[in-house]
Amino acid sequence: MTTSTDSAPLSQDALKTLVGQAALHYVEPGTIVGVGTGSTVNKFIDALATIKERIQGAVSSSEASTERLRALGIPVLGADQVASLPVYIDGADEIDAHGYMVKGGGAALTREKIVAALAERFVCIVDESKQVPTLGRFPLPVEVIPMAAAQIARRFEQAFGGAARLRLKDGQPLVTDNGQHILDVTGLAISDPLAFESEVNQWPGVVTVGVFAHQKASICLLGTARGVQTLNY
Ligand code: A5P
Repeated sequence: MTTSTDSAPLSQDALKTLVGQAALHYVEPGTIVGVGTGSTVNKFIDALATIKERIQGAVSSSEASTERLRALGIPVLGADQVASLPVYIDGADEIDAHGYMVKGGGAALTREKIVAALAERFVCIVDESKQVPTLGRFPLPVEVIPMAAAQIARRFEQAFGGAARLRLKDGQPLVTDNGQHILDVTGLAISDPLAFESEVNQWPGVVTVGVFAHQKASICLLGTARGVQTLNY
């Protein structure tokens, strides 16, 4: 699907609105929808509210999305209340030509991966600034058990030459919805996302690495200056 635009270039915010609205096409009537986290997903949630009578509800990937969904009158179910979801809709911090992604800029990566794992299809909604040839330009978020953070940071340096920094909020370590911390790792070029995700996932103390390769996007709705492009992987 391509939506053409003849007038002035669209702002990044407008592109997010466009892809958020385009994602409604993948919501099946009468079903429960998996909902991600972030500013692009917020646009999707706003669009979802316009058809809320046609869905059973949503499974959310963060406290922030849950709050927004409920404020708009969309019922939120727990991830443990469903065995599967037809679709999970979420943004990304980076996406490559294979549909592999880096996620977690909003610190919700663990719940995002859990909800995505329930879904038959992952529809990624991004503006074109998120497209990369190789993952690693965006600092890679890794959720960690706090006592392991320094050890994991050293391991990133030794294994990949990456520099890990503890994410702070108001001068204190950011605490995730799961009560853990986030390392942001720079200096990476992730040429084999599947192998990278598998390796880092098994380091002691890693809760979730923000590479989504084993659960890559099935479809990307890409907001571009020329409108929304649909990419299938
Ligand atoms: C949240 O933890 C992330 O995975 C988001 O999906 C990602 O940061 C994209 O967010 P924006 O839509 O705000 O760019």
